[in-house]
Amino acid sequence: MRCACLLLPALLALLALLAGCGERAAPPSAASAASVDALRPADARLAAAYERSCLLCHGRLDSGAPATGDRAAWAPRLAKGLDVLVGNARNGIGGMPAAGLCTDCSDAELRDLILFMSATAAPHTP
Ligand code: HEC
Repeated sequence: MRCACLLLPALLALLALLAGCGERAAPPSAASAASVDALRPADARLAAAYERSCLLCHGRLDSGAPATGDRAAWAPRLAKGLDVLVGNARNGIGGMPAAGLCTDCSDAELRDLILFMSATAAPHTP
């Protein structure tokens, strides 16, 4: 049974290696991919618009878009002013398509979606 004696430590070493890999692969941000993906606006209409557009990119940590609820990523954007952000969302910017794929979103809805994603205001339309 010499083989089994050699195999067991080898397996344990492999498991330790795999566990180490898992830790290094964790995202650097405090927010986990699952928690970002789960965030929704409280307003049902806004949540529906969010789900079929913004979520596709802003609900992920690896898309290049500032992630929903990631205040640090949104801070330099918000510094441009909300009107500028609504305009850029309407026209598209960088890797983001015009209106963020929500072609029937009004400017007010885009604004509320931006406020929701940047977590600076109550996520509902007044
Ligand atoms: C196809 C992917 C995609 C979708 C869908 C999308 N975005 Fe984006 N968004 C991006 C990317 C990528 C950026 C970063 C662009 C850059 O700065 O180069 C971005 C940036 C932004 C910005 C910051 C603009 C600025 O001036 O800094 C706002 C605001 C924004 N998105 C709003 C929205 C809203 C609202 C929705 C949904 C209605 C949406 N996005 C949907 C990809 C997307």
